[in-house]
Amino acid sequence: MTLSDPDNGLADTFANLEAVRLDIPKDSEQTDTESRQSVRNEFSIRRAGLEDALMLESIEREAFPGMTPVTRIDRDLTRQNGLYLAAVRAWREDERQLGPRYAIATQSEKEDDSFRARMKRNVDRYFLDKVVRPKLPEDYIAGFIGIWFVIDEAHVVIIGLRESERRKGIGEQLLISALEQAVENDSRVVTLEVRESNEPAIELYRKYGFQEVGLRRRYYSDNGDNAVIMTTPPIKSDDFQSQFTKLVDQQYDKWGWVRRPGFDGSEREPAANADSQDAI
Ligand SMILES: CC(C)(COP(=O)(O)OP(=O)(O)OC[C@H]1O[C@@H](n2cnc3c(N)ncnc32)[C@H](O)[C@@H]1OP(=O)(O)O)[C@@H](O)C(=O)NCCC(=O)NCCS
Repeated sequence: MTLSDPDNGLADTFANLEAVRLDIPKDSEQTDTESRQSVRNEFSIRRAGLEDALMLESIEREAFPGMTPVTRIDRDLTRQNGLYLAAVRAWREDERQLGPRYAIATQSEKEDDSFRARMKRNVDRYFLDKVVRPKLPEDYIAGFIGIWFVIDEAHVVIIGLRESERRKGIGEQLLISALEQAVENDSRVVTLEVRESNEPAIELYRKYGFQEVGLRRRYYSDNGDNAVIMTTPPIKSDDFQSQFTKLVDQQYDKWGWVRRPGFDGSEREPAANADSQDAI
């Protein structure tokens, strides 16, 4: 996992350091433009806010079963030196009909076929959702990434996706967006900790130039796993940027272009027929 801080031990240390003020516009504040060269992915990346907390906590429970809470999401969402980015798309009609408590259930809760679980789902849907309706975000969230900016470093404290949304390029897109925001925020490098046995995550980080620079022995309290500390080379260096640009282009060729903070589409060349290419 990514969290640098499963027991929130580092939280206080970082809290005492000088906070960096962030000014990332919300997706809705960005200028929309129809000038896009490539096919657009149905997901966008936007800054997450407090209204997303319920959904993020549910994704966190699904991504790190038995380990939650990994972060204090509600606190981190309002941290001056923190940034949470969410991968979002419009809700689908069937998701709306199943109700908010179903939307915030984890995959294993949804798949639990016991009598008790089925009863609970019915009570939630036909009674509780009508009496006290949990407030859901205006769009569906597939996953998210959390970053803290501390002096000249950006720390990825968490990245997690719904099980059903993995291996669709969304985790990679979240990392791309986090790296872009780290550059925007003048960070020199990006660092994180990852469970030594977490091959998917380690592969993702290696792909983006993270190198293994240290080990925290028995870091994870659930099973005593070691944490590998990974750090990028200087992210504003020409070498890093040239490799990064290639990876971003490959990602778009494979999955489609993703709207995100700082990249609303206007930087791409106009397409001959932009409207018909706007969604996949
Ligand atoms: C790690 C995680 C965020 C990856 O997200 P994802 O959307 O599934 O990954 P993507 O589809 O974007 O894949 C991007 C790259 O990641 C690596 N990767 C992702 N899943 C992988 C897997 N199962 N095996 C090997 N490599 C994998 C690959 O390098 C891949 O690039 P490729 O498609 O060119 O092979 C996701 O698996 C997750 O949420 N896991 C649970 C929570 C977690 O472990 N978080 C990380 C804590 S450090």
